[in-house]
Amino acid sequence: MSDFEEDFPKHLAHWLCSERLGRCVIAKKELASTNTLLAQMAESGMQEGLVVVADAQTGGMGRNGRTWFSPPGKNLYFSLLLRPDCKPGVVPQLAIVAALSLHDVVCRLCPGKKVGVKWPNDLLCEDAKLSGILCTMSCTGANVDYAVVGIGVNVNMAANEFPEDVKATSLQILGNGTWDRAFVLAEFLSAFEADYHSWLKRGNLASFIPRWNECSCLEGQYVEVEQGRELASGVVESITEEGHLRLRDASGKIALACAGDAHIRKR
Ligand code: BTN
Repeated sequence: MSDFEEDFPKHLAHWLCSERLGRCVIAKKELASTNTLLAQMAESGMQEGLVVVADAQTGGMGRNGRTWFSPPGKNLYFSLLLRPDCKPGVVPQLAIVAALSLHDVVCRLCPGKKVGVKWPNDLLCEDAKLSGILCTMSCTGANVDYAVVGIGVNVNMAANEFPEDVKATSLQILGNGTWDRAFVLAEFLSAFEADYHSWLKRGNLASFIPRWNECSCLEGQYVEVEQGRELASGVVESITEEGHLRLRDASGKIALACAGDAHIRKR
């Protein structure tokens, strides 16, 4: 067993305040992707709250077929198993809830830094990416068997350690210090546990909209969102309680973007 596999669970247990999330953890020195192992564990019947965390990923997956840069010894790459009692159509909202929980944690750890959320679920500081979330699910008919919330957070990377074509930042760059990755994960799990329960009770994002609007990087910006062959565009006017991006075009017509990447454009 590597140092990471032995030490990370001990450190996490030391910091953990959440009741159920993260009480069972599988730590691996290297994985192709934490999302893939977590989905296998879910298929084998593991309970909600299981966390799979890796020191490095060889095939870290990002949204829309992209890869996630996952070198060893630096960052957090983890996946959380959830078994929400909800319809499949609302599961993508979990990524938005997770982005807000993580945003709260980062703002506490790095006070004074202007960190924002970018729809659907990125954390950015001055246009540089701090974190990304990839949420997947498995369903039987209209029932959700499980959801996988996979999160990558750049923690202890120096600016010159990112590939040249990646515009990214890290907690270290924002806060001038190195962080115990297990502490950061424990903080996220307790923040997310509270948000997850309030989302489950409500069944939509209504109570999260004010929080989202307060820290959204896109509010008031003119954006284009590619959705398959269609292009939705307009000025961003909040998210909806379903997690869609509400856009108003020049004629005042409202369009909703349901998925995809939002690109800020000049009007
Ligand atoms: C994005 O494109 O912004 C989403 C990135 C998600 C990366 C995380 S790292 C942990 C988990 N395992 C993966 O393979 N991907 C997610």
